Amino acid sequence: SPMSRKIILDCDPGHDDALAIMLAVASPELELLGVTTTYGNVGLDDTTRNALQILELCGSHVSVYRGASLPLVRNRISAEFVHGKSGLEGPALPLPSRGAETTRATDFIIQSVLDHPHEVTLCPIGAMTNVATAMRLEPRIVPLIAEVVLMGGGTELGNWTPAAEFNILCDPHAAHIIFSSSANVTMFGLNATHQALAMSQHIAAIRAGGNRSSLVAAELLEFFKVAYHQRYGYEGPALHDPCVIAYLIQPDLFTLEGMNVTVDINEGVSFGRTVCDIYNVLNLSENARVAMKVDADGYFDLIAKRLAMLP
Ligand code: RIB
Ligand code: CA
Repeated sequence: SPMSRKIILDCDPGHDDALAIMLAVASPELELLGVTTTYGNVGLDDTTRNALQILELCGSHVSVYRGASLPLVRNRISAEFVHGKSGLEGPALPLPSRGAETTRATDFIIQSVLDHPHEVTLCPIGAMTNVATAMRLEPRIVPLIAEVVLMGGGTELGNWTPAAEFNILCDPHAAHIIFSSSANVTMFGLNATHQALAMSQHIAAIRAGGNRSSLVAAELLEFFKVAYHQRYGYEGPALHDPCVIAYLIQPDLFTLEGMNVTVDINEGVSFGRTVCDIYNVLNLSENARVAMKVDADGYFDLIAKRLAMLP
């Protein structure tokens, strides 16, 4: 519809990816053109099946397009111990009744942007190989992409190494391509997403929706919570990926700052770090708007309200 914003969600479900998919499906402000999948939390076959299962759970027939199964240069890493072997451990979901499209993710991304110049927002919330490869296969799309709103990196510490956040570390070269592409980039990093821990009252509010999708979302968060407590000692799991969708629906939940962000692609201790020049000491050009503050209660209110509207 003319009023809603066209987006492509590029994801590696993954518990928080699953809630991002649900929030996107539940939000009339957004027109989800398609879901593209990548390796990341788990392998491509599992992330693709998980995306199909979640879409089916929330009654969506949006097409799914398979993307990369490996990073551009480095070896593949994964996060089974956080998301379980299937990548969506916790709720028992029926196997999907449909498969992914035959069209590849990169071809879908390229064609969608060419068909709708300046109207499509790309939302990578996993390894960023698909978006980077699309930019390389068809450089014409870069100035035609409305915005790249990504979950990844951070202005402070990493969560996979002391320096690097998981999505960026999965494929630092892909992230480097995106940040240096001159595309309009908005970054939701750990410094922001760690302000959005799903505490018990937030999970309870989601569960209180009572509908199937809300109950599954609450179950996903309960599983996600265990891994977060074991590894980081947090009381609640950081709900990273839905920040990207919430920003598109209700931007005033977030405070953003423009700055230069450079991805470290040297294979040393800081490989995959997003070096954020908050005080502009290097006087380099601004290439991203970086989320610095999150209204956590408003964020979880939005999620609980929207998920309650799903089947
Ligand atoms: O570091 C957090 C990110 O890594 C999230 O997108 C999560 O789903 C995993 O992909
Ligand atoms: Ca993810």
